[in-house]
Amino acid sequence: MNDLAGKHIVLGLSGGIACYKAAELCRAFIKAGATVQVVMTEAAEQFITAVTMQALSGRPVFTSQWDARTSAGVDNNMPHINLSREADAIVIAPASADFMAKLLHGRADDLLSLMCLARPLDAVPLILAPAMNREMWAHPATQRNVAQLRADGTTVLDVGAGDQACGETGDGRMLEADELLYDVARFFAPKHLAGQHVLVSAGPTFEAIDPVRGLTNLSSGKMGFAIARAAHEAGARVTLVAGPVGLSTPRGVERVNVRSALEMQRALLAACDQASVFVSAAAVADWRPAQVLDQKIKKDGSGEVPTLSFVENPDILAGIATSPRAQAGALYCVGFAAESHDLLAHAQAKRVRKGVPLLVGNIGPDTFGQDDNALLLVDGHGATELPRASKRELACQLVAEIARRLPAC
Ligand code: C5P
Repeated sequence: MNDLAGKHIVLGLSGGIACYKAAELCRAFIKAGATVQVVMTEAAEQFITAVTMQALSGRPVFTSQWDARTSAGVDNNMPHINLSREADAIVIAPASADFMAKLLHGRADDLLSLMCLARPLDAVPLILAPAMNREMWAHPATQRNVAQLRADGTTVLDVGAGDQACGETGDGRMLEADELLYDVARFFAPKHLAGQHVLVSAGPTFEAIDPVRGLTNLSSGKMGFAIARAAHEAGARVTLVAGPVGLSTPRGVERVNVRSALEMQRALLAACDQASVFVSAAAVADWRPAQVLDQKIKKDGSGEVPTLSFVENPDILAGIATSPRAQAGALYCVGFAAESHDLLAHAQAKRVRKGVPLLVGNIGPDTFGQDDNALLLVDGHGATELPRASKRELACQLVAEIARRLPAC
């Protein structure tokens, strides 16, 4: 999905070793559909060349307020005005301690700070990705500046922790390009679910037979993880209860790993009291072996095969959907149905059986493990089709559909 399609970003670089990450960030913005205009301070030019940034952005880089070249198609010798007027956002990455101190005081003695001061406050948001040594980051002066910049309406992103170029270890690293792309895309995403706490279950369950064997299914967890990400981008706090999958946790999402259906039930019940929305995207095993053996079942050469007997797993969704909070409308429950045929009829019947206001149907063999899918949303009023698209896109659409159906607070 082109998360930044149609966006024009002014990418500002101030001086710091993290300038090397700005090259990757520029590419990431462009790959996500944005156009990028790079503006660099003199200090930034000590760390990375304008040649590199021009090659990556496909546009001449501006470094001086006295640069008389045409900027944004205008010949008035005012790049600080022209470049800022056409931006959907100014993203400063890296934002050094010194540059933030400068912004805080409204100083404007170079093109980048001049442009930040001259930008129309309501129309052009300013997003900073700080990068500095841990002592500089922790210093009361920097923390005071960050607090004041935020109070002035600037978005100051988090810093990363870990090894620093100076050899020290701690907070202050600039976030990686993929994390910054995520945060900037999230900044632009409509906040349909602001104030909501969304609980999502995802992936398969694994029902142990003995210490080395078990039963599972082909669910990849991709749809549920995409929903968790989309809900977080839409402004919600998100808790993701995940069966055994190798997917990385979407940024900003709290993840609880589980294995069996019973573990998944425990984790969901523990979290659902705080949640306002529950999306049950997990492919929970219907049955589990009646006994889990302590030792591996051995093949003894006799040709005899073990006999397994099963017990039914609890229906987690149906249990939560009939809880007093869900019945009172404080927890909006969304179920999934993976069917092989007659999707509409099965989805309608399942919605009633599970007692959920919204049920999302999909064709199991067409979705398991795939990066795209097609969804059929069934609620009390009828059915809505979300045509085949990437799971990421469908997740964003589903989140908007859920938000539309939430009871007004
Ligand atoms: O009955 P079926 O497995 O088709 O229902 C699918 C829906 O019910 C999904 O939302 C799934 O997460 C949920 N489910 C559950 N507990 C089970 C089985 C399914 O919560 N034991």
